[in-house]
Amino acid sequence: MGRKGLLFYPALARGSNRRARYYRNASMHPLLNIGVRAARRAGDLIVRHLDQLDAIKVTSKGRNDFVSEVDRKAEDDIIRTIRKSYPDHAILAEESGAHGEADPARSENLWIIDPLDGTTNFLHGFPVFAVSIAFMHRGRIEHGVIYDPMRQELYTASRGVGALLDGRRIRVSATRQLSQALIGTGFPYRPDSGWNEAYLAMLRDVMRESSGVRRPGAAALDLASVAAGRFDGFWEVGLSLWDVAAGALLIQEAGGILGDLAGGDGWQRSGNVVAGNPRIYEALLKLIEPHRAQIAS
Ligand code: IPD
Ligand code: CA
Ligand code: CA
Repeated sequence: MGRKGLLFYPALARGSNRRARYYRNASMHPLLNIGVRAARRAGDLIVRHLDQLDAIKVTSKGRNDFVSEVDRKAEDDIIRTIRKSYPDHAILAEESGAHGEADPARSENLWIIDPLDGTTNFLHGFPVFAVSIAFMHRGRIEHGVIYDPMRQELYTASRGVGALLDGRRIRVSATRQLSQALIGTGFPYRPDSGWNEAYLAMLRDVMRESSGVRRPGAAALDLASVAAGRFDGFWEVGLSLWDVAAGALLIQEAGGILGDLAGGDGWQRSGNVVAGNPRIYEALLKLIEPHRAQIAS
């Protein structure tokens, strides 16, 4: 295995950690504080619906792309929480779209919301999903929150201040060799995406060269796992800004790198993402390179 250093597992340190988090929250940026409040409330709401999965109304946005009333309720609740403190801020939310002047490249103050990342997992009772909220100022991601309500793990980051898991500083892993690396990914699940063959070629090569590949099913949590050093790297094609925005800041603040398939900064436009600690990021880019021409950037 690669060198992982000291990984932090809040569940193993619950008692002492709760108090530490209380004191650290006192110095949290007010914007991040509201993001955290919104994410926790939404996470609790989502979990409360887990024992009524059969009764939840689900509609399809497209092949293998579902939205449930829980996604919408969680999103409404997040928007209400943000609006209470920041009524003038613009919002871009997965289910309800733009509220106000929501232009990721230009808005003065913009919240980007994925109320339930991992809807398919949630609908099956598979306990891997999260709430993801980011705040952008004039095209730059300044704050990010990802909340895993099943593990009750809270990931936060503010630009220049670092990335935290339940109030404790996290770093990307120190794994140097791809052969020792655990890599996260997301499979394309729309049969007509046009790049399935190129993706499968990438997957084959990463499977061959790494120590293992995982597809948990919630991109925001995958990125948080890179920031926390649990994954050494990650790649996926065709993501949306709400899947990635908070996780991108977490990774950068944890000492990692996130870019597009060519190692550039076009990921916000293309939704194609490669991430990892600096060594594994470079190694993944090399493996992906021969196949990326077949994927529109
Ligand atoms: C999805 C998840 C999944 C990823 C998809 C996303 P959703 O988000 O993050 O892991 O592979 O591309 O759309 O629809 O569950 O919010
Ligand atoms: Ca998502
Ligand atoms: Ca979602």
